[in-house]
Amino acid sequence: MLQLPPLSLYIHIPWCVQKCPYCDFNSHAQKGEIPDLEYVDHLLADLDADLHLTSGRSIGTIFIGGGTPSLLSAQAMQKLLDGVRARLPVNADAEITMEANPGTVEADRFNAYQQAGVNRISIGVQSFNLEKLERLGRIHDAEEAKRAARLAENLELRSFNLDLMHGLPNQTLEEALNDLQQAIALSPPHLSWYQLTIEPNTLFGSRPPVLPDDDALWDIYQRGHQLLSAAGYQQYETSAYAKPGYQCQHNLNYWRFGDYLGIGCGAHGKLTFTDGRILRTAKTRHPRGYMQGNYMDKQYLVVTDELPFEFFMNRFRLLEATPRSEFTAFTGLDESKIRPQIEAAIEKGYLTETETSWQITEKGKLFLNSLLELFL
Ligand SMILES: C[S@@+](CC[C@H](N)C(=O)[O-])C[C@H]1O[C@@H](n2cnc3c(N)ncnc32)[C@H](O)[C@@H]1O
Ligand code: SF4
Repeated sequence: MLQLPPLSLYIHIPWCVQKCPYCDFNSHAQKGEIPDLEYVDHLLADLDADLHLTSGRSIGTIFIGGGTPSLLSAQAMQKLLDGVRARLPVNADAEITMEANPGTVEADRFNAYQQAGVNRISIGVQSFNLEKLERLGRIHDAEEAKRAARLAENLELRSFNLDLMHGLPNQTLEEALNDLQQAIALSPPHLSWYQLTIEPNTLFGSRPPVLPDDDALWDIYQRGHQLLSAAGYQQYETSAYAKPGYQCQHNLNYWRFGDYLGIGCGAHGKLTFTDGRILRTAKTRHPRGYMQGNYMDKQYLVVTDELPFEFFMNRFRLLEATPRSEFTAFTGLDESKIRPQIEAAIEKGYLTETETSWQITEKGKLFLNSLLELFL
């Protein structure tokens, strides 16, 4: 019987005050009050229907993402987390994150979220530059973002994160570094620093803004990385930086090919069974259909041949070494299945190997697609 990977829970909240022009997340502009208590009833019914997939495991991390979870009332958040704890064992030291938009945050609500059990808040700052914030269609200014960060800090949560983006329309190197400096000054234990991508089904996709060219993007990345490193942040994934001991446990579990239940509109799940089969689930995307009680949209078993690719696609996003034992533990496959591909990757200089682990090299990171293709 297979040793099962750790289990996380993702909960999706599908509404925002307004839709940002760059964003292709499953989020809908809210018209009037959001039906939060009714939605929580559906989330818990959705969870009930998935409980048989957990094989009796307890939950190690919870992530409430969106959309804008900070649109939930304190009462709805309490009901949601009480409902989760009543249905599933949640580890005493579980990391429980929620995302918050600085334009939707009030002091007493942060406090109430904490009372409900939230112990990590992730704040969508994006930039501190007013012109950039307007160009990004954000509903807050720099002061509101700073206020939200200070609120999170004063609550003495287990951690908090700031989301920043770079490579913004017409952004100069100085502007990008200035955003980072202002973020660092707020001392978040975790900083997500995303390069803006233009997604097809967005307003920016149909009317693309002028972005910094590749040389400018490279300068921003290199200089920003230096700034973050000098301030004590360690990069552990392409866009994720943390002070030592403050890596996001929920995202780490995704990237280490752990399991997760996904509840709420459009949420994805991955569940391993004791006989080695791996199930992927996807929930109904639109709130209308979802709130009619049609939760499951798709579910299918991962084909064994695709497991090595899926495992390494997640694993090689992380800069840490991959324990070789986890390949067998989490895929149920013997290492001999991928021996030729591993040899080829080492030969090409993409990987190094010790008795216990594999480490992706700088060249491997640069040619990640070629490295992953070996496992297709
Ligand atoms: C669900 S949002 C965070 C919470 C909240 N909705 C907000 O925006 O404040 C997740 C994060 O993804 C990042 N993001 C979204 N679209 C992106 C894009 N096209 N390129 C890069 N980062 C993006 C943003 O930094 C954003 O804060
Ligand atoms: S970036 Fe955040 S606030 Fe903006 S539309 Fe996407 S989920 Fe909503």
